[in-house]
Amino acid sequence: MAKNESTAPALILVVDDEPVMCALMREIMEGGGFAVIEASDGVEACRRYKEHHPDLLLVDIMMPRMDGYELCRELRSRPDGAYVPIVMVTALDDVSSIARAYDAGATDFMSKPVDWAIVNYRVRYILRAEELRRNQERLIAAKEVAEAANRSKSQFLANMSHELRTPLNAIIGFAGMMNACTLGPLDDKYVEYADIIGASGRHLLAIINDILDLAKADADKLSLVEEKVDLVKVVYRASQIVQDMARRARIHFASEIDGPLPKVTGDPAKITQILVNLLTNAIKFSEPGGRVRLKVERAPNQGVAFCVEDTGIGMSADDIKIALEPFGQIDAGLTRRNDGVGLGLPLTKRLIELHGGTMEIESKRGKGTLVTVRLPEERSYVSV
Ligand SMILES: Nc1ncnc2c1ncn2[C@@H]1O[C@H](COP(=O)(O)OP(=O)(O)OP(=O)(O)O)[C@@H](O)[C@H]1O
Ligand SMILES: [Mg+2]
Repeated sequence: MAKNESTAPALILVVDDEPVMCALMREIMEGGGFAVIEASDGVEACRRYKEHHPDLLLVDIMMPRMDGYELCRELRSRPDGAYVPIVMVTALDDVSSIARAYDAGATDFMSKPVDWAIVNYRVRYILRAEELRRNQERLIAAKEVAEAANRSKSQFLANMSHELRTPLNAIIGFAGMMNACTLGPLDDKYVEYADIIGASGRHLLAIINDILDLAKADADKLSLVEEKVDLVKVVYRASQIVQDMARRARIHFASEIDGPLPKVTGDPAKITQILVNLLTNAIKFSEPGGRVRLKVERAPNQGVAFCVEDTGIGMSADDIKIALEPFGQIDAGLTRRNDGVGLGLPLTKRLIELHGGTMEIESKRGKGTLVTVRLPEERSYVSV
């Protein structure tokens, strides 16, 4: 049916050397709204197939010159006949010819004498199954095109990020030298400006690094530098990084390690990044006076869980879906007031998945958010 306009009737090729059988088939099928063409043997059927490309063939087995099996094999060997539905019409109890028909590539069979009452239903059903198969094929092709486009995008982003980082490092480096007056005294205003240039450069570099990491993750090229990680040190480092930010935002921040933690196999820089991203979100999206808590614990046989809880603005279930998309930000007051581009959460999720872990977000608008990250038990290797 894909070949015809959707309003045009499906075209059926009836192949039978008995004119009476052909006439009966035509009568029944035209009555059911199909268009019918005929052939009296396999050779003629091949020719008619090439000319008309019917949507389905009803094929008798025993015919002169080229029989039904041979016709079936011939069509299946052609690129344009590989999937066309071929229904073989066989004698009622003839199991061996049914088996041979399937071996030759037939789609289905119909027993003789034909039950005329159900022929049209049967044909419609087979045509629908074929239409579903074609739709699936189209979807797979569209998905492959989309994936190829996504790969090109990731490659482009990776190249661009690399090209942007090189000059940025020069900007940050020279701004630092000027800020420190390495080559001699500078006017105070220039020192202040050099500081702003350096800070802006570092901010831009952080964004570019996130874009690069996400592009790499999309292209399955983001990898871990694994070692035995002391989680106490990682929690301490992440807490140190966000402490100052929490103080400036007047958020009460506390971290707590519940019970002895195992060491885990993982990438310490990336686990730190996971915690820093979640903690900066918790601080950024809480009003002054709010509380942010990081709790780490070992769940029996379930690995290690990191819980980042805040009393901030929270998110609805729909907001969470947006937040997990690259560049997804929720249009609430605090989001607009804060800087950031919306890459932290999707990147964090990828980094956790690279460790074989999971991230769960529980949140309610106006109530706060709890993000739980779990690293699997297989990553724990020593109890201390
Ligand atoms: N703890 C939270 N409470 C409320 N909203 C949050 C929280 N964490 C994330 N969000 C919402 O999800 C959005 C996406 O978060 P994400 O960390 O990806 O981006 P960002 O923090 O805006 O920018 P970036 O992390 O790239 O600097 C945020 O802009 C915010 O709207
Ligand atoms: Mg963030």
